[in-house]
Amino acid sequence: MKSPRMLRLSLATTLSVALMATLMPLAPASATPSIAAPSEISTQALSVDSAVHIAARKIQRDPSRTDVFVNKSYPLSPKKYAPKTVAVPGTNVRLKSSASSAYTTMVKAAAKDGVKIRAVSGYRSYARQAELYNYYTRIYGQSYASKISAVPGTSEHQTGLAIDVGNNNSACGLQACFADTPVGRWVAKNAHKYGFILRYPKGQESITGYSYEPWHFRYLGTSLAKSYKNSGAKTLEAYYGVAGSKSTTPPSKSAKGTAKTSANLNMRSGAGTGNRILLTIPNGKTVKLTGSKNSGWYQVQYSSKTGWVSGKYLKNISMPSNTSKDTPKKDDSKTIKAKSAKTTENLNMRSGNGTNHRIILTIPKGKKVSVTGSKKSGWYPVKYAGKNGWASGKYLR
Ligand code: DAL
Ligand code: ZN
Repeated sequence: MKSPRMLRLSLATTLSVALMATLMPLAPASATPSIAAPSEISTQALSVDSAVHIAARKIQRDPSRTDVFVNKSYPLSPKKYAPKTVAVPGTNVRLKSSASSAYTTMVKAAAKDGVKIRAVSGYRSYARQAELYNYYTRIYGQSYASKISAVPGTSEHQTGLAIDVGNNNSACGLQACFADTPVGRWVAKNAHKYGFILRYPKGQESITGYSYEPWHFRYLGTSLAKSYKNSGAKTLEAYYGVAGSKSTTPPSKSAKGTAKTSANLNMRSGAGTGNRILLTIPNGKTVKLTGSKNSGWYQVQYSSKTGWVSGKYLKNISMPSNTSKDTPKKDDSKTIKAKSAKTTENLNMRSGNGTNHRIILTIPKGKKVSVTGSKKSGWYPVKYAGKNGWASGKYLR
């Protein structure tokens, strides 16, 4: 692969963070359906095979219930809800006891098929979720972090009913390629029999608001999980007939630009090799160009993902004609002309222009820094507290 080398650091960090993840739940109960179910229609009268009737399904907001619906637009209420959980036997992952029992049954069934499922992350408290979300925001920026991590108070993990699973050897842990591992394949096929559904499917990012997570399973109980499966709905949002989750995925349907890859090419979360690899686009594939360009990198869409690739491995580049109108430039691509800037978050100053470089210090939010030179791949050389280093332009104004 000619493309920029894999950034091991980001994967390792992602994994260790996920491994660190665990513990607590949500609370009470205002069971207000956001979509009014006509009272004369009982849910039972509806065909569970038909996704057409989904709008009449009641959305459960009571976080203590197994069928509670949680997404970016339906946060937990109260937001710091904390359920009673148990340790899943043989693991340090916690779940509500109903989910734990179902999970254990599933693990045993998989073992009979020669597949060893590992519990990676289960219940996470509001505080723990905040740590994770803030961590991802620091390294990837808020827009990308919001696609892979829930804002505290909106994570299914906080209900004690969601679990991230992995392979015993951690193959493709928390990565899209997990889908093609023994555990990934097994759970995709069988989890619903034990009451779990794959909550963030491929191609549904604009509905769920999250990137494809073939490892994240939500316990709904066997009856609801089967009903969901039989409905043919692609997401829980579709099943309940609620509009897509607030999504930060850049929509650029009207962008007509395209290019062809001239190598197996890594698509990354930002413009530069310091950003996380989202997927590798095979040589000779056509990608859509959104119109955003930054330091020789192009924002592209491929296989329902949006990310950045180096222009060096693109040919037949044809930018969309409506670039400026339809694809507003990300903050990242704005150049700060001033000699000083203000931090919009607590911001790591690093030894180089990317998250793979050493952290020199963390500049508190709202501080003024001197910008000592010009931007490189979205990063600025800055001076603060007598130290020189690099800071991501995403958090500078
Ligand atoms: N990664 C999922 C979306 C969560 O943080 O809950
Ligand atoms: Zn998860």
